[in-house]
Amino acid sequence: MISAERIPNNVSLSSNKRLQRALEHWQPKYIQWWRDMGPQGFQDYHQVYVRTAISVDPEGWAHYEYVKLPEYRWGIFLADPVPDRRIGFGDFLGKPVWQEVPGEFRNQLRRLIVTQGDTEPASVEQQRRLGHRCPSLYDLRNLFQVNVEEGRHLWAMVYLLHSYFGRDGRDEAEELLERQSGNRDKPRILDAFNEPIDNWLDFFMFTMFTDRDGKSQLMSLSESSLDPLSRTTRFMLTEEAHHMFVGESGIARILERTCELMRQAGYSGDVRTIGGIDIPTIQKHLNHWFSLSLDLHGGEVSSNAAAYFANGLKGRAKEDKYDDHAVKDSYYTMEFFEGGRSVTRDVLMRNAMNEVLRDWYVGDCAAGVERWNRLLERSGLSDRLRLPDRKFNRGIGMYSGVHFDPDGHPLAHDDWERRKSEWLPTPADREYLLSIMAAPIFEPGKFANYIAPPRRGINQQPVNFEYVRTET
Ligand SMILES: [Fe+2]
Ligand SMILES: [Fe+2]
Repeated sequence: MISAERIPNNVSLSSNKRLQRALEHWQPKYIQWWRDMGPQGFQDYHQVYVRTAISVDPEGWAHYEYVKLPEYRWGIFLADPVPDRRIGFGDFLGKPVWQEVPGEFRNQLRRLIVTQGDTEPASVEQQRRLGHRCPSLYDLRNLFQVNVEEGRHLWAMVYLLHSYFGRDGRDEAEELLERQSGNRDKPRILDAFNEPIDNWLDFFMFTMFTDRDGKSQLMSLSESSLDPLSRTTRFMLTEEAHHMFVGESGIARILERTCELMRQAGYSGDVRTIGGIDIPTIQKHLNHWFSLSLDLHGGEVSSNAAAYFANGLKGRAKEDKYDDHAVKDSYYTMEFFEGGRSVTRDVLMRNAMNEVLRDWYVGDCAAGVERWNRLLERSGLSDRLRLPDRKFNRGIGMYSGVHFDPDGHPLAHDDWERRKSEWLPTPADREYLLSIMAAPIFEPGKFANYIAPPRRGINQQPVNFEYVRTET
């Protein structure tokens, strides 16, 4: 039996028989999935100090307690409705938003929701083995916090499928638990979510760059004319902010420690000899996850994106910052690559909506890299991190068939093959990272050699708080 009390929500679950019935069927499968595919080895004997969303107001939702992971109270929350909300862009600009799914957009909306929903359990699967290599209890707790919230994001999308898409929605909800990250026969929908994440440098870069793609997608969906989708994604954004904090501060702490070790090694020495992570290795991982996350924004010229915008299904990040919300006859100047040469051409703005969102994303990433560089500067180092050109290492879109270096200069295939190990992580880099992460650190207040402690703990607890307790 589904107990509405065990499932914190603001969607009147206790009086919604239809949703209860759908969840009764789905929830046991979800829990089974979590046990099989969630954090490996931390299901039954560990209590984790996590926050649980129990209401959407600022005080209520950040409720902290120790829980065993499979007993986490995954809930369903929508941000408060905006009174008299109107469609903010596209061909239906100014009309009232929809509380039900219009028949003619049903397939498009379902596809958007399923694609978003698929990324949530995928990331939990990708990260499931990281606990065994954690740099501290503080970091272990952050990993699990991200994991349970990605689980809740899956619930959020399943809520929409169950409530607004009938039978097909229920089928899609099941399939979200059946596809598996990296599985040859039933992979996750988007490539970046099939990449393994087996070390903490990858994890921090993933939460910095790939969760930030989550942020841009959620921002554009929160503009949607389908009001329940807008409200659901608006609440998800509040959780996403913490995921990006984990990534950005994780890398910042690695950089801080690297600087310290470089000082010890006398700057010219190799920090690897004293167990640190050298800046070129950090840059390579940045290149890898940034370029994969650029791909998540889709092709540069896209008739799907144009239709989503015209129909009011998916807008731009911060739509209200723009003057023109119909965008009928404006153009986007885009760089094409033809016959080995770069040419610029104007594309109808509606067809360039993926690129518009990608621009927003690149700007948001650049600001984060800038903050890392200020840290390097303060430490007296001349090294800097940077975002590679957006044409570098692309697997989707018009730059995908051609090779470019991180400055955006085209490269012949052989040159790319010869030089790519300068720019992307190599098996030897991975081996090195795994070697310094071989032993997990479970002692409160202790941190692995390659990472500095955080400035402060979680929820005003001290840094040496026992964020994960082991039952003996
Ligand atoms: Fe998410
Ligand atoms: Fe996330």
